[in-house]
Amino acid sequence: MTADAAPSPSGFATRLIAWQARDGRQDLPWQKTRDPYRVWLSEIMLQQTQVATVLDYYARFLARFPTVEALAQAALEDVMPLWAGLGYYARARNLHACAQAICARHGGVFPSTASELAELPGIGPSTAAAIAAFCFDERAAILDGNVKRVLARHFAVEGDPAGAAVERHLWSLARDLLPPSACDMPAYTQAVMDLGATLCTRSAPRCPACPVQTTCVAHRDDRVDQLPTPRVRKAVALRHAHMLVLLHAEQVLLQQRPPTGLWGGLLTPPQFDTPAALHAAVTQLTGAPRAAQALPFRRHAFTHFTLEFVPHLVVLPATALHAGDAALCWRSLAHADELAVPAPIRTLLRDLRDLRAQVAAPR
Ligand code: ADE
Repeated sequence: MTADAAPSPSGFATRLIAWQARDGRQDLPWQKTRDPYRVWLSEIMLQQTQVATVLDYYARFLARFPTVEALAQAALEDVMPLWAGLGYYARARNLHACAQAICARHGGVFPSTASELAELPGIGPSTAAAIAAFCFDERAAILDGNVKRVLARHFAVEGDPAGAAVERHLWSLARDLLPPSACDMPAYTQAVMDLGATLCTRSAPRCPACPVQTTCVAHRDDRVDQLPTPRVRKAVALRHAHMLVLLHAEQVLLQQRPPTGLWGGLLTPPQFDTPAALHAAVTQLTGAPRAAQALPFRRHAFTHFTLEFVPHLVVLPATALHAGDAALCWRSLAHADELAVPAPIRTLLRDLRDLRAQVAAPR
């Protein structure tokens, strides 16, 4: 076949399925099941997150919440620790809300069509299609970031794939390429995911190994490195914060964040907009003004902005706190790895554990 001939839809699927059986990923834990609870959990965890990172989280989550009922009955604060460090915490809040909706609206049984699944909290059209294809053989197309890249290259689709018109075009191509037989849907869906994740990667695609190279327009025209069209990025906004790291012996003071918003429901050191507000809080909390040591600032990139935060270290001789605040709690630095804290705070606490040895406790 030449690159001038449009790939016949079934030819594209046939080549992908054969390649996946030979060279694709076969042993991922969520591939060994058709249980929609397990497949759904994997798809939500895998959004914006690498397989290697997800594996441990997935196993721990299922050990703690083996069924959708178990998850629905849990308190959100018992769910968040199992997500801490994975990022994009709205996913965990939606996961919990979705489990409750499945129990309330569907008697604890996952609906079996992509259109019903897409009505549930946190399940977008591509995730709904993946669950329906993997678990129920539905001929539903997925279109995540990896698949967008594969299709934009294969068909030389110009324009930002996140733009509405380009996205509509990509959805239509994705639907046209589905295998005719519904029983091929699980293998095909895994194949197209694997192609984007392992061969048709953003910066180092391995075209010689690609099963659909002969019909790829970007490859034919030597434009693989130009497609998909890069997004025009706005300058990333920078936000500043000051975090109070109040230590006593091996304990650190943490505060539970409100359930919604940034790092919702997780524990972080109390956060302030200015050093003055932080120093005022130290006085109020501990009954006296105390020296705070400003540590080098740290950066954490969120999707829409970068947070630059300065940890201010205060070492307390006693745990007595003046202002009672139900959201405040002392936690052991030694157990930093088990706390429901976001990834950059976990790194900070680990560093503090090491730094602690060098900071002389006040008399
Ligand atoms: N990314 C999203 N879904 C996936 C899956 N089922 N297997 C591997 N990577 C994925």
